[in-house]
Amino acid sequence: MEELGSWKRTCYCTEVGKQDLGKEVYLMGWVNSYRDHGGVIFIDLRDRTGLIQVVFNPVFAGTAHDKANMLRNEWVIAVQGEVRARPQDMINTKLPTGGIEVWVKELRILNRSLAVPFAIEDEIKINEELRLTYRYLDLRRPEMQKKIITRHRVVKLIRDYFDQHGFYEIETPFLTKSTPEGARDYLVPSRLNPGKFYALPQSPQLFKQLLMVAGYDRYFQVVRCMRDEDLRADRQPEFTQLDVEMSFPRPEDIYELMEEMLAKVWKEIMGLEIPRPFPKMTWDEAMDKYGCDRPDTRYGLLLKNLSDIFPNTEYRFFKQAISEGGIIKGLNAPGCASWSRKDTDDLTYALKAYGAKGLTVIRYQEEGLAGPVAKYLNADEQKLMIERLDAKVGDVMMLMGDKVSVTNEAMNQLRQMIAKKMKLVPENKFNFLWVTDFPLVEWSETDKRWKSTHHPFTSPRPEDLEKLESEPGSVKAVAYDVVLNGVEIGGGSIRIHRPEIQERVFHMLGISDEEAKIKFGFLLDAFRFGAPPHGGIALGIDRLMQILAGGNSIRDCIAFPKTQAGSDLMVNAPNEVSEDQLKELHLKIIKEDLS
Ligand code: AMO
Repeated sequence: MEELGSWKRTCYCTEVGKQDLGKEVYLMGWVNSYRDHGGVIFIDLRDRTGLIQVVFNPVFAGTAHDKANMLRNEWVIAVQGEVRARPQDMINTKLPTGGIEVWVKELRILNRSLAVPFAIEDEIKINEELRLTYRYLDLRRPEMQKKIITRHRVVKLIRDYFDQHGFYEIETPFLTKSTPEGARDYLVPSRLNPGKFYALPQSPQLFKQLLMVAGYDRYFQVVRCMRDEDLRADRQPEFTQLDVEMSFPRPEDIYELMEEMLAKVWKEIMGLEIPRPFPKMTWDEAMDKYGCDRPDTRYGLLLKNLSDIFPNTEYRFFKQAISEGGIIKGLNAPGCASWSRKDTDDLTYALKAYGAKGLTVIRYQEEGLAGPVAKYLNADEQKLMIERLDAKVGDVMMLMGDKVSVTNEAMNQLRQMIAKKMKLVPENKFNFLWVTDFPLVEWSETDKRWKSTHHPFTSPRPEDLEKLESEPGSVKAVAYDVVLNGVEIGGGSIRIHRPEIQERVFHMLGISDEEAKIKFGFLLDAFRFGAPPHGGIALGIDRLMQILAGGNSIRDCIAFPKTQAGSDLMVNAPNEVSEDQLKELHLKIIKEDLS
Protein backbone atom coordinates (compact mmCIF):
# COMPACT_ATOMS: atom_id res chain seq x y z
CA MET A 1 0.00 0.00 0.00
CA GLU A 2 1.11 3.53 -0.64
CA GLU A 3 0.43 6.92 0.84
CA LEU A 4 -1.20 9.81 -0.91
CA GLY A 5 1.88 11.88 -0.07
CA SER A 6 1.82 15.33 -1.60
CA TRP A 7 -0.71 14.42 -4.30
CA LYS A 8 -3.65 16.79 -4.45
CA ARG A 9 -6.77 15.90 -6.39
CA THR A 10 -7.27 18.26 -9.32
CA CYS A 11 -10.98 17.46 -9.75
CA TYR A 12 -13.66 14.78 -9.48
CA CYS A 13 -13.82 12.07 -12.13
CA THR A 14 -16.71 13.43 -14.18
CA GLU A 15 -15.43 16.99 -14.00
CA VAL A 16 -12.71 16.05 -16.46
CA GLY A 17 -13.82 17.14 -19.93
CA LYS A 18 -12.80 18.09 -23.44
CA GLN A 19 -11.41 21.36 -22.05
CA ASP A 20 -8.73 19.31 -20.26
CA LEU A 21 -7.35 17.49 -23.32
CA GLY A 22 -3.59 17.25 -23.03
CA LYS A 23 -3.62 18.40 -19.41
CA GLU A 24 -2.32 16.50 -16.44
CA VAL A 25 -4.85 15.50 -13.77
CA TYR A 26 -4.76 13.79 -10.38
CA LEU A 27 -7.85 11.65 -9.73
CA MET A 28 -8.81 9.54 -6.74
CA GLY A 29 -11.46 6.95 -6.16
CA TRP A 30 -12.48 3.30 -6.36
CA VAL A 31 -11.80 0.69 -9.02
CA ASN A 32 -15.24 0.14 -10.47
CA SER A 33 -14.17 -2.34 -13.13
CA TYR A 34 -11.00 -3.79 -14.57
CA ARG A 35 -10.36 -5.00 -18.11
CA ASP A 36 -7.16 -6.21 -19.70
CA HIS A 37 -7.13 -5.90 -23.50
CA GLY A 38 -3.97 -7.42 -24.87
CA GLY A 39 -1.79 -5.99 -22.15
CA VAL A 40 -3.47 -2.57 -22.01
CA ILE A 41 -5.37 -2.27 -18.74
CA PHE A 42 -8.59 -0.25 -18.65
CA ILE A 43 -10.06 0.77 -15.36
CA ASP A 44 -13.29 2.58 -14.68
CA LEU A 45 -12.42 4.85 -11.80
CA ARG A 46 -15.39 5.88 -9.65
CA ASP A 47 -15.97 8.69 -7.22
CA ARG A 48 -19.17 10.30 -6.02
CA THR A 49 -19.66 12.07 -9.33
CA GLY A 50 -19.44 8.97 -11.54
CA LEU A 51 -16.96 7.14 -13.74
CA ILE A 52 -13.99 7.91 -15.93
CA GLN A 53 -11.88 5.46 -17.89
CA VAL A 54 -8.22 5.36 -16.96
CA VAL A 55 -5.76 3.54 -19.19
CA PHE A 56 -2.54 1.79 -18.26
CA ASN A 57 -0.58 1.41 -21.45
CA PRO A 58 2.66 -0.49 -20.79
CA VAL A 59 4.60 1.91 -23.00
CA PHE A 60 3.24 5.06 -21.39
CA ALA A 61 2.62 3.91 -17.80
CA GLY A 62 5.83 1.98 -17.14
CA THR A 63 5.89 0.67 -13.57
CA ALA A 64 2.37 1.95 -12.96
CA HIS A 65 1.23 -0.64 -15.48
CA ASP A 66 2.90 -3.42 -13.52
CA LYS A 67 1.19 -2.28 -10.33
CA ALA A 68 -2.16 -1.99 -12.10
CA ASN A 69 -2.03 -5.73 -12.72
CA MET A 70 -2.76 -6.25 -9.04
CA LEU A 71 -5.86 -4.08 -8.88
CA ARG A 72 -9.26 -5.54 -8.08
CA ASN A 73 -12.74 -4.05 -7.79
CA GLU A 74 -13.24 -1.54 -4.97
CA TRP A 75 -9.55 -0.99 -4.33
CA VAL A 76 -8.84 2.66 -3.57
CA ILE A 77 -6.36 4.33 -5.89
CA ALA A 78 -4.96 7.67 -6.95
CA VAL A 79 -3.71 8.26 -10.47
CA GLN A 80 -1.71 10.93 -12.14
CA GLY A 81 -2.17 11.05 -15.89
CA GLU A 82 -2.86 12.89 -19.09
CA VAL A 83 -6.32 13.54 -20.50
CA ARG A 84 -6.73 12.25 -24.04
CA ALA A 85 -9.56 11.93 -26.51
CA ARG A 86 -10.73 8.36 -27.01
CA PRO A 87 -10.35 6.89 -30.47
CA GLN A 88 -13.59 7.36 -32.42
CA ASP A 89 -14.55 3.67 -32.20
CA MET A 90 -14.00 3.60 -28.42
CA ILE A 91 -16.37 6.44 -27.52
CA ASN A 92 -18.95 5.42 -24.92
CA THR A 93 -22.03 7.56 -25.39
CA LYS A 94 -23.61 6.23 -22.17
CA LEU A 95 -20.97 7.89 -19.96
CA PRO A 96 -20.69 11.67 -19.55
CA THR A 97 -16.91 11.17 -19.74
CA GLY A 98 -17.29 8.64 -22.56
CA GLY A 99 -15.36 10.74 -25.11
CA ILE A 100 -12.15 10.96 -23.08
CA GLU A 101 -9.82 8.86 -20.99
CA VAL A 102 -6.85 9.42 -18.74
CA TRP A 103 -3.54 7.86 -19.69
CA VAL A 104 -1.92 7.04 -16.40
CA LYS A 105 1.68 7.94 -15.70
CA GLU A 106 1.72 7.10 -12.04
CA LEU A 107 -0.48 5.01 -9.77
CA ARG A 108 -0.70 4.95 -6.00
CA ILE A 109 -2.59 2.05 -4.44
CA LEU A 110 -4.09 3.48 -1.27
CA ASN A 111 -6.11 0.55 0.00
CA ARG A 112 -7.31 -2.93 -0.84
CA SER A 113 -10.83 -4.29 -0.63
CA LEU A 114 -12.21 -7.72 0.06
CA ALA A 115 -14.50 -9.12 -2.61
CA VAL A 116 -17.73 -7.16 -2.09
CA PRO A 117 -20.90 -9.10 -1.15
CA PHE A 118 -22.84 -7.45 -3.98
CA ALA A 119 -21.96 -5.44 -7.06
CA ILE A 120 -21.62 -1.70 -6.65
CA GLU A 121 -24.10 -0.87 -9.38
CA ASP A 122 -27.74 0.00 -9.85
CA GLU A 123 -30.50 -2.55 -10.34
CA ILE A 124 -28.97 -5.25 -8.23
CA LYS A 125 -31.32 -8.00 -7.16
CA ILE A 126 -30.36 -8.73 -3.59
CA ASN A 127 -32.33 -8.69 -0.40
CA GLU A 128 -32.53 -5.51 1.60
CA GLU A 129 -31.07 -7.12 4.70
CA LEU A 130 -27.75 -7.63 2.98
CA ARG A 131 -27.84 -4.07 1.71
CA LEU A 132 -28.53 -2.75 5.20
CA THR A 133 -25.82 -4.91 6.78
CA TYR A 134 -23.27 -3.49 4.35
CA ARG A 135 -24.92 -0.10 4.10
CA TYR A 136 -21.58 1.67 3.42
CA LEU A 137 -21.28 -0.43 0.26
CA ASP A 138 -24.91 0.00 -0.66
CA LEU A 139 -24.45 3.75 -0.32
CA ARG A 140 -21.64 3.59 -2.89
CA ARG A 141 -24.14 2.59 -5.57
CA PRO A 142 -24.89 5.50 -7.95
CA GLU A 143 -28.67 5.48 -7.38
CA MET A 144 -28.18 5.66 -3.62
CA GLN A 145 -25.61 8.42 -3.94
CA LYS A 146 -28.05 10.34 -6.08
CA LYS A 147 -30.81 10.01 -3.49
CA ILE A 148 -28.65 11.01 -0.56
CA ILE A 149 -27.11 13.94 -2.41
CA THR A 150 -30.54 15.08 -3.61
CA ARG A 151 -31.69 14.99 -0.02
CA HIS A 152 -28.84 17.33 0.89
CA ARG A 153 -29.93 19.69 -1.91
CA VAL A 154 -33.55 19.66 -0.79
CA VAL A 155 -32.68 20.34 2.83
CA LYS A 156 -30.30 23.13 1.82
CA LEU A 157 -32.99 24.67 -0.34
CA ILE A 158 -35.48 24.46 2.52
CA ARG A 159 -33.05 26.07 4.94
CA ASP A 160 -32.30 28.92 2.54
CA TYR A 161 -35.99 29.41 1.83
CA PHE A 162 -36.92 29.71 5.49
CA ASP A 163 -33.96 31.97 6.18
CA GLN A 164 -35.08 34.25 3.35
CA HIS A 165 -38.58 34.33 4.81
CA GLY A 166 -37.40 35.55 8.20
CA PHE A 167 -37.39 32.25 10.07
CA TYR A 168 -34.70 31.33 12.58
CA GLU A 169 -33.51 27.75 12.95
CA ILE A 170 -33.42 27.08 16.68
CA GLU A 171 -32.44 23.75 18.21
CA THR A 172 -34.65 22.14 20.82
CA PRO A 173 -33.69 19.43 23.32
CA PHE A 174 -33.46 15.72 22.56
CA LEU A 175 -33.35 14.73 26.19
CA THR A 176 -36.71 15.97 27.28
CA LYS A 177 -40.12 15.06 28.55
CA SER A 178 -42.86 13.18 26.79
CA THR A 179 -44.69 15.16 24.06
CA PRO A 180 -47.81 13.29 23.10
CA GLU A 181 -48.02 12.77 19.34
CA GLY A 182 -49.88 9.51 19.52
CA ALA A 183 -46.95 7.09 19.75
CA ARG A 184 -44.97 5.59 22.60
CA ASP A 185 -41.91 7.43 23.84
CA TYR A 186 -38.35 6.21 23.66
CA LEU A 187 -37.09 6.61 27.19
CA VAL A 188 -33.56 7.33 28.40
CA PRO A 189 -32.73 6.52 32.01
CA SER A 190 -31.06 9.27 33.97
CA ARG A 191 -27.91 8.15 35.84
CA LEU A 192 -27.90 11.27 37.96
CA ASN A 193 -31.58 11.00 38.86
CA PRO A 194 -32.19 7.40 39.86
CA GLY A 195 -35.54 6.05 38.72
CA LYS A 196 -36.15 9.01 36.41
CA PHE A 197 -36.23 9.06 32.64
CA TYR A 198 -35.93 11.51 29.81
CA ALA A 199 -38.13 10.99 26.80
CA LEU A 200 -36.73 11.49 23.30
CA PRO A 201 -38.94 14.00 21.48
CA GLN A 202 -41.76 12.69 19.29
CA SER A 203 -41.63 16.21 17.87
CA PRO A 204 -40.48 19.61 19.15
CA GLN A 205 -44.14 20.63 19.44
CA LEU A 206 -44.11 22.22 22.89
CA PHE A 207 -40.70 23.83 22.52
CA LYS A 208 -41.68 25.52 19.29
CA GLN A 209 -44.80 26.85 20.96
CA LEU A 210 -42.69 28.14 23.84
CA LEU A 211 -40.41 29.87 21.31
CA MET A 212 -43.48 31.75 20.12
CA VAL A 213 -44.25 32.76 23.71
CA ALA A 214 -40.61 33.83 23.87
CA GLY A 215 -41.18 36.22 20.99
CA TYR A 216 -39.10 34.62 18.21
CA ASP A 217 -42.09 34.96 15.89
CA ARG A 218 -40.87 32.62 13.13
CA TYR A 219 -39.09 29.35 13.89
CA PHE A 220 -38.09 26.36 11.85
CA GLN A 221 -35.90 23.35 12.39
CA VAL A 222 -34.82 20.33 10.39
CA VAL A 223 -35.04 17.95 13.27
CA ARG A 224 -34.99 14.28 14.17
CA CYS A 225 -38.08 12.93 15.91
CA MET A 226 -38.35 9.59 17.67
CA ARG A 227 -41.52 7.55 17.96
CA ASP A 228 -41.89 4.05 19.25
CA GLU A 229 -44.73 2.89 17.07
CA ASP A 230 -45.56 -0.12 14.96
CA LEU A 231 -43.53 0.31 11.83
CA ARG A 232 -44.98 0.41 8.35
CA ALA A 233 -43.39 0.92 4.96
CA ASP A 234 -43.56 4.70 5.32
CA ARG A 235 -42.56 4.90 8.98
CA GLN A 236 -39.22 4.92 10.75
CA PRO A 237 -38.65 4.98 14.50
CA GLU A 238 -36.48 8.02 14.00
CA PHE A 239 -37.33 10.31 11.15
CA THR A 240 -36.72 13.89 10.12
CA GLN A 241 -39.23 16.70 10.21
CA LEU A 242 -39.15 20.15 8.80
CA ASP A 243 -40.78 21.74 11.83
CA VAL A 244 -42.27 25.23 11.51
CA GLU A 245 -44.06 27.65 13.81
CA MET A 246 -45.27 31.24 13.33
CA SER A 247 -46.85 33.85 15.56
CA PHE A 248 -50.06 35.64 14.51
CA PRO A 249 -50.69 33.38 11.49
CA ARG A 250 -53.85 32.62 9.61
CA PRO A 251 -54.02 29.07 8.24
CA GLU A 252 -53.74 30.67 4.77
CA ASP A 253 -50.33 32.11 5.69
CA ILE A 254 -49.10 28.64 6.49
CA TYR A 255 -50.59 27.17 3.32
CA GLU A 256 -48.93 29.88 1.23
CA LEU A 257 -45.56 29.52 2.95
CA MET A 258 -45.47 25.75 2.49
CA GLU A 259 -46.85 25.78 -1.04
CA GLU A 260 -44.22 28.24 -2.23
CA MET A 261 -41.51 26.14 -0.62
CA LEU A 262 -42.76 22.85 -2.07
CA ALA A 263 -43.18 24.42 -5.51
CA LYS A 264 -39.60 25.69 -5.27
CA VAL A 265 -38.32 22.23 -4.38
CA TRP A 266 -40.18 20.67 -7.30
CA LYS A 267 -38.99 23.37 -9.68
CA GLU A 268 -35.34 23.24 -8.68
CA ILE A 269 -35.00 19.52 -8.10
CA MET A 270 -37.42 18.09 -10.68
CA GLY A 271 -37.73 21.01 -13.10
CA LEU A 272 -41.51 20.81 -12.71
CA GLU A 273 -44.06 23.57 -12.14
CA ILE A 274 -46.54 22.71 -9.40
CA PRO A 275 -49.84 24.55 -9.82
CA ARG A 276 -50.72 26.78 -6.88
CA PRO A 277 -52.70 27.28 -4.75
CA PHE A 278 -53.02 23.60 -3.86
CA PRO A 279 -56.60 22.34 -3.86
CA LYS A 280 -58.32 22.07 -0.47
CA MET A 281 -60.76 19.47 0.75
CA THR A 282 -62.44 19.26 4.11
CA TRP A 283 -61.91 16.14 6.19
CA ASP A 284 -65.64 15.36 5.87
CA GLU A 285 -65.46 15.45 2.08
CA ALA A 286 -62.28 13.35 2.02
CA MET A 287 -63.85 10.69 4.21
CA ASP A 288 -67.04 10.74 2.17
CA LYS A 289 -65.48 10.49 -1.29
CA TYR A 290 -62.29 8.57 -0.54
CA GLY A 291 -62.90 6.85 2.79
CA CYS A 292 -59.64 8.26 4.12
CA ASP A 293 -58.09 11.54 5.23
CA ARG A 294 -55.21 11.41 2.75
CA PRO A 295 -56.81 10.80 -0.60
CA ASP A 296 -54.84 10.07 -3.71
CA THR A 297 -56.50 12.40 -6.20
CA ARG A 298 -54.51 11.25 -9.21
CA TYR A 299 -57.38 9.03 -10.29
CA GLY A 300 -61.16 8.86 -9.92
CA LEU A 301 -63.04 5.78 -8.64
CA LEU A 302 -64.79 7.96 -6.07
CA LEU A 303 -66.80 6.32 -3.34
CA LYS A 304 -70.52 7.02 -3.11
CA ASN A 305 -72.64 6.77 0.00
CA LEU A 306 -75.62 4.55 -0.86
CA SER A 307 -77.12 4.19 2.62
CA ASP A 308 -80.26 6.19 1.74
CA ILE A 309 -81.03 3.85 -1.18
CA PHE A 310 -81.35 0.75 0.96
CA PRO A 311 -83.46 1.68 4.03
CA ASN A 312 -85.84 -1.26 3.53
CA THR A 313 -83.60 -3.64 1.66
CA GLU A 314 -84.06 -7.38 1.63
CA TYR A 315 -80.35 -7.90 1.39
CA ARG A 316 -79.31 -9.21 4.78
CA PHE A 317 -75.85 -7.63 5.06
CA PHE A 318 -76.99 -4.14 4.11
CA LYS A 319 -80.05 -4.41 6.34
CA GLN A 320 -77.85 -5.35 9.27
CA ALA A 321 -75.31 -2.61 8.59
CA ILE A 322 -78.03 0.04 8.53
CA SER A 323 -79.79 -1.25 11.62
CA GLU A 324 -76.49 -1.12 13.51
CA GLY A 325 -75.86 2.50 12.52
CA GLY A 326 -73.37 1.65 9.78
CA ILE A 327 -73.18 2.82 6.18
CA ILE A 328 -73.25 1.40 2.69
CA LYS A 329 -70.71 2.66 0.23
CA GLY A 330 -69.96 1.70 -3.29
CA LEU A 331 -67.71 2.42 -6.22
CA ASN A 332 -67.92 1.70 -9.90
CA ALA A 333 -65.04 0.04 -11.71
CA PRO A 334 -65.56 1.04 -15.34
CA GLY A 335 -65.21 -1.61 -18.01
CA CYS A 336 -64.34 -4.34 -15.53
CA ALA A 337 -67.32 -6.67 -16.01
CA SER A 338 -64.91 -9.03 -17.74
CA TRP A 339 -62.94 -9.54 -14.54
CA SER A 340 -63.03 -13.15 -13.52
CA ARG A 341 -64.57 -14.47 -10.34
CA LYS A 342 -61.02 -15.06 -9.14
CA ASP A 343 -60.12 -11.40 -9.70
CA THR A 344 -62.94 -10.19 -7.50
CA ASP A 345 -62.46 -12.98 -4.96
CA ASP A 346 -58.83 -11.91 -4.61
CA LEU A 347 -59.93 -8.35 -3.89
CA THR A 348 -62.48 -9.55 -1.32
CA TYR A 349 -59.87 -11.69 0.33
CA ALA A 350 -57.33 -8.84 0.48
CA LEU A 351 -59.93 -6.61 2.12
CA LYS A 352 -60.32 -9.01 5.03
CA ALA A 353 -57.06 -7.61 6.41
CA TYR A 354 -58.87 -4.30 6.80
CA GLY A 355 -61.78 -5.74 8.73
CA ALA A 356 -64.16 -6.22 5.79
CA LYS A 357 -66.57 -9.12 6.22
CA GLY A 358 -67.25 -9.24 2.52
CA LEU A 359 -67.61 -7.32 -0.70
CA THR A 360 -70.74 -7.20 -2.81
CA VAL A 361 -69.82 -7.44 -6.48
CA ILE A 362 -72.47 -6.64 -9.07
CA ARG A 363 -71.67 -6.87 -12.76
CA TYR A 364 -73.63 -4.65 -15.12
CA GLN A 365 -74.23 -6.72 -18.24
CA GLU A 366 -76.35 -6.24 -21.36
CA GLU A 367 -79.00 -8.53 -19.91
CA GLY A 368 -79.03 -6.75 -16.56
CA LEU A 369 -77.29 -6.99 -13.21
CA ALA A 370 -75.40 -10.19 -12.47
CA GLY A 371 -73.90 -11.53 -9.30
CA PRO A 372 -75.30 -13.50 -6.38
CA VAL A 373 -76.65 -10.39 -4.63
CA ALA A 374 -78.43 -8.69 -7.53
CA LYS A 375 -81.60 -10.75 -7.05
CA TYR A 376 -82.07 -9.40 -3.51
CA LEU A 377 -82.17 -5.80 -4.74
CA ASN A 378 -85.52 -4.54 -5.95
CA ALA A 379 -85.96 -2.56 -9.16
CA ASP A 380 -85.89 0.83 -7.42
CA GLU A 381 -82.77 -0.02 -5.48
CA GLN A 382 -81.08 -1.24 -8.63
CA LYS A 383 -82.01 1.86 -10.58
CA LEU A 384 -80.95 4.32 -7.89
CA MET A 385 -77.71 2.46 -7.27
CA ILE A 386 -76.80 2.48 -10.99
CA GLU A 387 -77.58 6.19 -11.19
CA ARG A 388 -75.65 7.09 -8.06
CA LEU A 389 -72.61 5.12 -9.16
CA ASP A 390 -72.97 6.34 -12.73
CA ALA A 391 -72.51 2.75 -13.91
CA LYS A 392 -72.70 1.68 -17.54
CA VAL A 393 -73.06 -1.70 -19.18
CA GLY A 394 -69.67 -3.42 -18.90
CA ASP A 395 -68.89 -1.95 -15.47
CA VAL A 396 -68.65 -3.65 -12.08
CA MET A 397 -70.20 -2.08 -8.98
CA MET A 398 -68.62 -2.98 -5.68
CA LEU A 399 -70.47 -2.28 -2.47
CA MET A 400 -69.92 -2.76 1.20
CA GLY A 401 -72.07 -2.23 4.27
CA ASP A 402 -70.54 -2.18 7.71
CA LYS A 403 -69.60 0.13 10.55
CA VAL A 404 -68.61 3.57 9.26
CA SER A 405 -64.94 3.14 10.09
CA VAL A 406 -64.69 -0.37 8.62
CA THR A 407 -66.55 0.55 5.44
CA ASN A 408 -64.41 3.63 4.90
CA GLU A 409 -61.11 1.90 5.47
CA ALA A 410 -61.94 -1.15 3.38
CA MET A 411 -63.41 0.89 0.52
CA ASN A 412 -60.37 3.18 0.62
CA GLN A 413 -58.14 0.13 0.23
CA LEU A 414 -60.38 -1.31 -2.47
CA ARG A 415 -60.18 1.95 -4.41
CA GLN A 416 -56.39 1.80 -4.32
CA MET A 417 -56.26 -1.86 -5.29
CA ILE A 418 -58.57 -1.33 -8.25
CA ALA A 419 -56.60 1.72 -9.39
CA LYS A 420 -53.43 -0.37 -9.38
CA LYS A 421 -55.09 -3.28 -11.13
CA MET A 422 -56.59 -1.00 -13.77
CA LYS A 423 -53.26 0.87 -14.09
CA LEU A 424 -54.96 4.17 -13.37
CA VAL A 425 -52.15 5.60 -11.23
CA PRO A 426 -50.13 7.96 -13.39
CA GLU A 427 -46.41 8.17 -12.87
CA ASN A 428 -44.67 11.51 -12.62
CA LYS A 429 -47.83 13.28 -11.53
CA PHE A 430 -47.77 15.13 -8.25
CA ASN A 431 -51.14 15.92 -6.72
CA PHE A 432 -50.81 18.07 -3.65
CA LEU A 433 -53.85 18.61 -1.50
CA TRP A 434 -54.72 20.32 1.77
CA VAL A 435 -57.12 18.37 3.94
CA THR A 436 -58.69 20.79 6.41
CA ASP A 437 -61.20 20.92 9.26
CA PHE A 438 -60.21 17.71 10.99
CA PRO A 439 -62.30 16.62 13.93
CA LEU A 440 -60.61 17.79 17.12
CA VAL A 441 -60.98 14.38 18.76
CA GLU A 442 -61.78 10.77 17.97
CA TRP A 443 -63.45 8.29 20.27
CA SER A 444 -61.15 5.49 21.34
CA GLU A 445 -63.09 2.28 21.88
CA THR A 446 -60.10 0.65 23.54
CA ASP A 447 -59.51 3.42 26.06
CA LYS A 448 -63.16 4.51 26.27
CA ARG A 449 -62.24 8.16 26.00
CA TRP A 450 -61.77 10.95 23.49
CA LYS A 451 -58.32 11.21 21.97
CA SER A 452 -56.81 14.08 20.01
CA THR A 453 -56.85 13.56 16.27
CA HIS A 454 -53.58 15.52 15.96
CA HIS A 455 -52.35 16.48 19.44
CA PRO A 456 -53.91 18.15 22.50
CA PHE A 457 -52.55 21.61 21.65
CA THR A 458 -54.61 21.99 18.48
CA SER A 459 -57.13 24.82 18.54
CA PRO A 460 -60.81 24.01 18.18
CA ARG A 461 -62.61 26.19 15.65
CA PRO A 462 -63.72 29.24 17.67
CA GLU A 463 -67.33 28.73 16.56
CA ASP A 464 -67.27 25.16 17.95
CA LEU A 465 -65.93 26.08 21.39
CA GLU A 466 -69.34 25.96 22.99
CA LYS A 467 -69.69 22.27 22.03
CA LEU A 468 -66.35 21.30 23.55
CA GLU A 469 -67.86 19.59 26.56
CA SER A 470 -71.34 18.74 25.27
CA GLU A 471 -70.49 17.30 21.84
CA PRO A 472 -66.73 16.85 21.56
CA GLY A 473 -67.12 14.53 18.57
CA SER A 474 -68.61 17.29 16.44
CA VAL A 475 -65.96 19.91 17.22
CA LYS A 476 -63.73 20.68 14.29
CA ALA A 477 -60.12 21.75 14.69
CA VAL A 478 -58.19 24.45 12.87
CA ALA A 479 -55.93 21.67 11.65
CA TYR A 480 -54.66 20.76 8.22
CA ASP A 481 -52.63 18.04 6.58
CA VAL A 482 -50.75 18.35 3.34
CA VAL A 483 -51.17 15.25 1.25
CA LEU A 484 -49.17 14.26 -1.82
CA ASN A 485 -50.34 11.39 -4.03
CA GLY A 486 -52.16 9.77 -1.14
CA VAL A 487 -49.32 10.15 1.36
CA GLU A 488 -49.59 12.45 4.36
CA ILE A 489 -46.41 14.46 4.03
CA GLY A 490 -47.21 17.02 6.69
CA GLY A 491 -49.64 18.19 9.29
CA GLY A 492 -50.19 21.17 11.50
CA SER A 493 -52.66 23.47 13.15
CA ILE A 494 -53.37 26.76 14.79
CA ARG A 495 -52.70 26.18 18.48
CA ILE A 496 -54.52 26.96 21.62
CA HIS A 497 -52.79 29.98 23.22
CA ARG A 498 -55.08 30.68 26.18
CA PRO A 499 -54.62 28.65 29.36
CA GLU A 500 -58.34 28.37 30.11
CA ILE A 501 -59.07 26.78 26.72
CA GLN A 502 -56.08 24.47 27.00
CA GLU A 503 -57.38 23.37 30.41
CA ARG A 504 -60.86 22.72 28.98
CA VAL A 505 -59.36 20.57 26.23
CA PHE A 506 -57.27 18.62 28.75
CA HIS A 507 -60.44 18.00 30.80
CA MET A 508 -62.36 16.83 27.78
CA LEU A 509 -59.51 14.42 26.98
CA GLY A 510 -59.80 12.99 30.46
CA ILE A 511 -56.55 14.58 31.68
CA SER A 512 -57.05 15.64 35.29
CA ASP A 513 -55.90 19.03 36.62
CA GLU A 514 -53.20 17.29 38.56
CA GLU A 515 -51.93 15.28 35.57
CA ALA A 516 -52.06 18.39 33.39
CA LYS A 517 -50.01 20.27 35.97
CA ILE A 518 -47.38 17.52 36.20
CA LYS A 519 -47.13 16.96 32.45
CA PHE A 520 -47.82 20.38 30.96
CA GLY A 521 -47.66 22.82 33.88
CA PHE A 522 -44.84 24.71 32.16
CA LEU A 523 -47.00 25.24 29.08
CA LEU A 524 -50.02 26.42 31.05
CA ASP A 525 -47.72 28.75 33.00
CA ALA A 526 -46.20 30.09 29.81
CA PHE A 527 -49.66 30.79 28.39
CA ARG A 528 -50.26 33.06 31.42
CA PHE A 529 -47.38 35.33 30.38
CA GLY A 530 -48.67 36.82 27.18
CA ALA A 531 -48.71 33.97 24.66
CA PRO A 532 -49.39 35.24 21.14
CA PRO A 533 -51.75 33.38 18.82
CA HIS A 534 -49.56 30.92 16.97
CA GLY A 535 -49.61 27.96 14.66
CA GLY A 536 -47.44 25.87 12.43
CA ILE A 537 -46.83 22.63 10.64
CA ALA A 538 -44.32 19.82 10.28
CA LEU A 539 -43.37 18.02 7.06
CA GLY A 540 -41.96 14.53 6.97
CA ILE A 541 -38.71 14.98 5.03
CA ASP A 542 -38.13 11.24 4.54
CA ARG A 543 -41.56 10.74 3.00
CA LEU A 544 -41.12 13.81 0.85
CA MET A 545 -37.79 12.48 -0.38
CA GLN A 546 -39.25 9.07 -1.08
CA ILE A 547 -41.84 10.57 -3.39
CA LEU A 548 -39.33 12.94 -5.01
CA ALA A 549 -36.98 10.03 -5.65
CA GLY A 550 -39.80 7.87 -6.99
CA GLY A 551 -38.73 5.13 -4.59
CA ASN A 552 -40.70 2.32 -3.05
CA SER A 553 -39.26 2.64 0.39
CA ILE A 554 -38.67 5.46 2.85
CA ARG A 555 -35.47 3.60 3.80
CA ASP A 556 -33.82 4.36 0.46
CA CYS A 557 -33.81 8.07 1.23
CA ILE A 558 -32.20 7.71 4.65
CA ALA A 559 -28.47 7.05 4.84
CA PHE A 560 -28.66 4.70 7.81
CA PRO A 561 -32.26 3.54 8.30
CA LYS A 562 -33.77 0.91 10.57
CA THR A 563 -35.51 -2.23 9.38
CA GLN A 564 -39.25 -2.82 9.77
CA ALA A 565 -38.38 -4.50 13.05
CA GLY A 566 -36.64 -1.32 14.23
CA SER A 567 -33.08 -2.61 14.11
CA ASP A 568 -29.93 -1.30 12.56
CA LEU A 569 -28.38 -4.36 10.95
CA MET A 570 -25.03 -2.72 10.38
CA VAL A 571 -24.18 -1.59 13.90
CA ASN A 572 -26.46 -4.23 15.40
CA ALA A 573 -28.71 -1.98 17.43
CA PRO A 574 -30.55 -2.27 19.70
CA ASN A 575 -28.28 -4.55 21.68
CA GLU A 576 -27.77 -5.73 25.20
CA VAL A 577 -25.68 -3.60 27.54
CA SER A 578 -23.33 -4.64 30.30
CA GLU A 579 -24.37 -5.29 33.88
CA ASP A 580 -22.20 -2.36 34.92
CA GLN A 581 -24.04 0.01 32.64
CA LEU A 582 -27.38 -1.19 33.95
CA LYS A 583 -26.20 -0.81 37.52
CA GLU A 584 -25.05 2.75 36.93
CA LEU A 585 -28.46 3.53 35.52
CA HIS A 586 -30.21 1.83 38.43
CA LEU A 587 -31.89 -0.61 36.05
CA LYS A 588 -32.57 -4.35 36.26
CA ILE A 589 -33.70 -6.49 33.36
CA ILE A 590 -36.61 -8.77 34.09
CA LYS A 591 -36.14 -11.81 31.91
CA GLU A 592 -39.47 -12.78 30.38
CA ASP A 593 -40.17 -15.87 28.42
CA LEU A 594 -40.46 -14.30 24.97
CA SER A 595 -40.88 -17.59 23.15
P1 AMO B 1 -47.26 14.75 12.72
O1 AMO B 1 -47.30 13.77 13.81
O2 AMO B 1 -48.38 14.78 11.73
O3 AMO B 1 -47.21 16.24 13.30
O4 AMO B 1 -45.90 14.60 11.94
C1 AMO B 1 -45.59 15.43 10.83
C2 AMO B 1 -45.15 14.60 9.65
O5 AMO B 1 -44.03 13.78 9.98
C3 AMO B 1 -44.06 12.60 9.20
N1 AMO B 1 -44.01 11.42 10.08
C4 AMO B 1 -43.21 10.35 9.89
N2 AMO B 1 -42.33 10.06 8.93
C5 AMO B 1 -41.66 8.90 9.01
N3 AMO B 1 -41.79 8.02 10.01
C6 AMO B 1 -42.66 8.26 11.02
N4 AMO B 1 -42.75 7.38 12.02
C7 AMO B 1 -43.43 9.47 10.99
N5 AMO B 1 -44.35 10.03 11.78
C8 AMO B 1 -44.69 11.20 11.23
C9 AMO B 1 -45.34 12.61 8.40
C10 AMO B 1 -46.19 13.60 9.17
O6 AMO B 1 -47.13 14.24 8.35
N6 AMO B 1 -45.99 18.33 16.00
C11 AMO B 1 -46.84 18.02 14.87
C12 AMO B 1 -46.73 19.05 13.78
C13 AMO B 1 -47.45 20.33 14.11
O7 AMO B 1 -48.60 20.26 14.62
O8 AMO B 1 -46.88 21.39 13.78
C14 AMO B 1 -46.41 16.66 14.31
O9 AMO B 1 -45.41 16.09 14.67
O10 AMO B 1 -45.08 13.07 7.10
